[in-house]
Amino acid sequence: MVSVGIVGWRGMVGSVLMDRMVAENDFGGFEPVFFSTSQAGKTGPDIGTGPQPVLDANDVDKLAEMDVVVSCQGGSYTEQIHPALRQRGWRGYWIDAASTLRMTDDSMIVLDPVNHRLIDKALESGTKDYIGGNCTVSLMLMAVGGLFEKNWIEWITSMTYQSASGAGANNMRELVAQMGCLGDSAKALLADPAVSILDIDRQISATLADPDFPTQYFGAPLAASLIPWIDRAMENGQTREEWKGVAETNKILGRSQNPIPIDGQCVRVGAMRCHSQALTIKLTEDLPLNVIEDAIVSANDWVTVIPNDKATTLSGLSPAAVSGTLGVPVGRVRKLILGPDYLTVFTVGDQLLWGAAEPLRRALRIILS
Ligand code: HSE
Repeated sequence: MVSVGIVGWRGMVGSVLMDRMVAENDFGGFEPVFFSTSQAGKTGPDIGTGPQPVLDANDVDKLAEMDVVVSCQGGSYTEQIHPALRQRGWRGYWIDAASTLRMTDDSMIVLDPVNHRLIDKALESGTKDYIGGNCTVSLMLMAVGGLFEKNWIEWITSMTYQSASGAGANNMRELVAQMGCLGDSAKALLADPAVSILDIDRQISATLADPDFPTQYFGAPLAASLIPWIDRAMENGQTREEWKGVAETNKILGRSQNPIPIDGQCVRVGAMRCHSQALTIKLTEDLPLNVIEDAIVSANDWVTVIPNDKATTLSGLSPAAVSGTLGVPVGRVRKLILGPDYLTVFTVGDQLLWGAAEPLRRALRIILS
């Protein structure tokens, strides 16, 4: 029986992956082997067949016995273990959530509702490394993949509103702690209807500026504010998150040699686990909105178009509405006054599902099929 080693299953992305695999009855037809960098020798998760023993995730010999390794352990682990395994001659499939191997010549970025054909080709040609894409990129492609497929996109500007989860579990905790801190500091003032809103605002500003305000992970207040910087600086003034938009999108679409320009500003906002994006799309031609919407919704089973009215937008097009679901709503669809071939859309998607765990789960199924 095919053996699948799973590393990093206790972390945030790993836990979402495990939940999805249980929900979709993925555990069957292969032998799952759980690895951990800290829990070796302990009892692992019960996936319906009794608790599993946990092996040492740094034991390259044990990992090399696997036909497939799925890692949600993070980039440092990949940097250390993947080359060691390959140098040892291991020819198994490596499926990874970390960005480390995404842009290597030997890897495939997996997002099968968009690039299933390319994944099949990669499997045929012997590619062994299958890597999940950047969350913002995957969610953008799930949203407007239909327009790319039709070759209707000349360029895109993406302005993002990225959730705390993209920065990690500690950052999500810090966001909630920041919100709690602000709520506590204004509680007494809020309870008194006679207190002016400007007094409440002054209190909030003072709390945000307090040296004890929790900013250890974000480096700045996110609650009641935002952070227009994600990841490290590139030499051209972009952040790495902004660079990934063009580099990874074109790799996923198999057009790195003929790239569609994509650029914008990536911004962290106080959402928990849904990334949102406002896209300006320069179309290759003036197409009617109904034709554009048809192409968007027919691209995959998860994307929907939200009518451009206030009530439906408020109820269906927000992190609060989408969190924890696989749905990728696209709304605020309209032509910009810039001209008939300038389209704007707003889209939201769960950063931990389509943005991280789901493409990996599905890649494993494809590889095992
Ligand atoms: N880099 C993304 C973010 C998450 O910081 O939101 C992972 O793709």
